[in-house]
Amino acid sequence: MHFIPQSSHRVVAIDGPAASGKSSVARKLAQRLGFAYVNSGAIYRAITWYILQKGIDTRDVRHVTQATESAHIACSLQNNESRIFIDDVDPTDYLRDDRVNDSVSQVSRLARVREIAVQKMRDCVRNHDVVVEGRDIGSIVFPETPYKFYIDASPDVRLRRRAAQGERDEIKMRDHADSSRPVSPLVIAQDAHVIDTSHLTLEGVVNQIIARLKQNGLHVSTCFNVSTMNVYYWLGYHLSRLIGRLFFSFQVIHRERMIQNGPVILAMNHQSYLDPPLAGTTCDRPIYFLARKTLMDIPLLGWLLPKLNVIPVNQEGIDRSALKALIRVLKSGNAALVFPEGARTLDGNLQPAQRGLGLVIAKTLAPVVPMRIFGAHEALPRGGGGLHFVPITIVIGEPIFFTTADVKSTAKDIYQRLSQRVMDEIAALRLE
Ligand code: CDP
Ligand code: CDP
Repeated sequence: MHFIPQSSHRVVAIDGPAASGKSSVARKLAQRLGFAYVNSGAIYRAITWYILQKGIDTRDVRHVTQATESAHIACSLQNNESRIFIDDVDPTDYLRDDRVNDSVSQVSRLARVREIAVQKMRDCVRNHDVVVEGRDIGSIVFPETPYKFYIDASPDVRLRRRAAQGERDEIKMRDHADSSRPVSPLVIAQDAHVIDTSHLTLEGVVNQIIARLKQNGLHVSTCFNVSTMNVYYWLGYHLSRLIGRLFFSFQVIHRERMIQNGPVILAMNHQSYLDPPLAGTTCDRPIYFLARKTLMDIPLLGWLLPKLNVIPVNQEGIDRSALKALIRVLKSGNAALVFPEGARTLDGNLQPAQRGLGLVIAKTLAPVVPMRIFGAHEALPRGGGGLHFVPITIVIGEPIFFTTADVKSTAKDIYQRLSQRVMDEIAALRLE
């Protein structure tokens, strides 16, 4: 029987072709998770640079193998990132030279070179939580990890991304060589989650990965949030939870679906004044809210609401400055609660979506978490009727990740359609 040793440290594997965004995504993800970031391509690049320095023809298999075997290659983690030294020299500044780009696939296809590189990598990450990016990380280097991703983008997008970095890189040639070599070719590992990043921002890709990691049971710490709660928010947050539990048997179903990092729009149906404080408790970090500007004229509220992250909105017509403020907080990586219907329901039923949410989605491409509240209308209906202590529940849906293609469509009234799509997802949520 074959026994694969289970390691106690966690490995997130990110594979994919050249310029799909592996390095940028893996580095950001590692920062969010508090893991170390390992760039496996750097080892193959360092060896290639070393061979070229020695004047060896990279097609000369025997000499390349001999030189790699006799080189002293050291991989270590410094400041939570991998660093390679080869014969005590740090080649970092040369790893993306044109000549290295041109020859690296020729060197990395050799079985003996790979054997040495893989061993160095495994030694390097021993006992560390790491995000490792490359070509064969999920399939060969760490096949036992349950956290595998394959990120891709269309050839055009990848070419543009590389050109924008100011590099001359024949990525088509490298991709062909890396995918067709007999030893450890670039493949999609059987259990990898594939993400097409062509129309996603870096943040969008990282958020998708984090959402998936949570579903796969990885505990993602939330202490890396962009901002922490001020004392007023903290009190409001805990008071809302307490009141919710004591008087309304308040429950959140599928809290694990909430995106706890980066920009996110919490889109919920609107039933009562109880909605904002209760919706705020679905998130571990302070979120932003929109509220009627006239509330700011009430003496104590006018002082308190800004401390609770409230953005004032003028409800007559479209308030451009409020929308701008909302877009700004999202682009800075925060979460915001938006009611697509615009106002509280009168009869408890869902209402049509307004186009404002669609505009915000188009301008930010922030992922949207659809949420549906049940019971708040019965607890505190609009138009009077008093307070009733009945159960209130919020059901959280799967996050929606919009792409550039979704928002750039020339379809008539695209903002309205985007809002409606979110509203449809909200309507599909049920009390289980
Ligand atoms: O950043 P980019 O995708 O352009 O390349 P890289 O990750 O720095 O890798 C450079 C080259 O190293 C690739 O084209 C592959 O030939 C090789 N490589 C590999 O064979 N296996 C890995 N796990 C990582 C890189
Ligand atoms: O490591 P790999 O070659 O796969 O790609 P990279 O060097 O991380 O990314 C190539 C370029 O694409 C970088 O300038 C990234 O900022 C950019 N990128 C992007 O614009 N959107 C993404 N979703 C991912 C990367």
